[in-house]
Amino acid sequence: MRTPHILSSRKQLWRRAWAFLLFGTLTLSGCFVEGPPAHSVGHQHKHAGTEEGAHLRYQEPDRYTWQYPDKVVKALKLEPGMKVADLGSGTGYFTFRLAEAVGDSGKVYAIDINKEMNASIDKQSVEKQVDNVQTVLAVEHDPLIPDKVDLIFSVNAYHHLKDRTAYFQNAARYLKPGGRVAIIDFRKGMFRHYTEQRVLLQEFKAAGYGLDKTHGFLPRQHFLVFSQPKK
Ligand SMILES: C[S@@+](CC[C@H](N)C(=O)[O-])C[C@H]1O[C@@H](n2cnc3c(N)ncnc32)[C@H](O)[C@@H]1O
Repeated sequence: MRTPHILSSRKQLWRRAWAFLLFGTLTLSGCFVEGPPAHSVGHQHKHAGTEEGAHLRYQEPDRYTWQYPDKVVKALKLEPGMKVADLGSGTGYFTFRLAEAVGDSGKVYAIDINKEMNASIDKQSVEKQVDNVQTVLAVEHDPLIPDKVDLIFSVNAYHHLKDRTAYFQNAARYLKPGGRVAIIDFRKGMFRHYTEQRVLLQEFKAAGYGLDKTHGFLPRQHFLVFSQPKK
């Protein structure tokens, strides 16, 4: 005779199997990662509709295993007091790490065209008692950074921008002398949303920037740093 104990462990087994299948399906369909093919310029993501959906997606723990956020921030060689614009900051995956790197005397502008993303960052700033992060509601063709910055840093957002050469020609006016632009975006073939490195290089060259550094340690993304156009 089957005991209630055996029945309940069978139920648990089924539940686990279903959860596993569901998680696998969601992952493959791109709900938790930047998912499979088709475009690379000026694309708008469907954020599962809500800030909460985007938060789950951008902050999922697995991201740490390929995004190497601490190594990325270290590679930027930020110093206390610096000002940084996190362009396309989303739910702040990098924003708060950058804020820590520049310290209380520095500033991070979290730049996004999506009000909900900015609201998420504002909420986290209060919760984390962080004073050096300021959200900015940008427009599609202009980051509207309120001050000159040492670095414009952008992760997984470059493929969203339209007419990127014009965008960064204009954005150069927000850089302090010696300022840099660092772009991280997916390589072709890794995910649906990507920018080919040769395209990145072409577009920044056309906008007048010089290539300062290429970091090769990210398994899924390019990580390029550009120096500001010479006047
Ligand atoms: C894939 S998310 C990346 C978020 C964050 N950088 C991260 O790595 O978790 C891209 C973000 O770029 C924002 N975005 C899209 N177009 C933009 C534009 N023209 N200016 C500023 N932000 C933009 C989107 O609203 C979204 O929050």
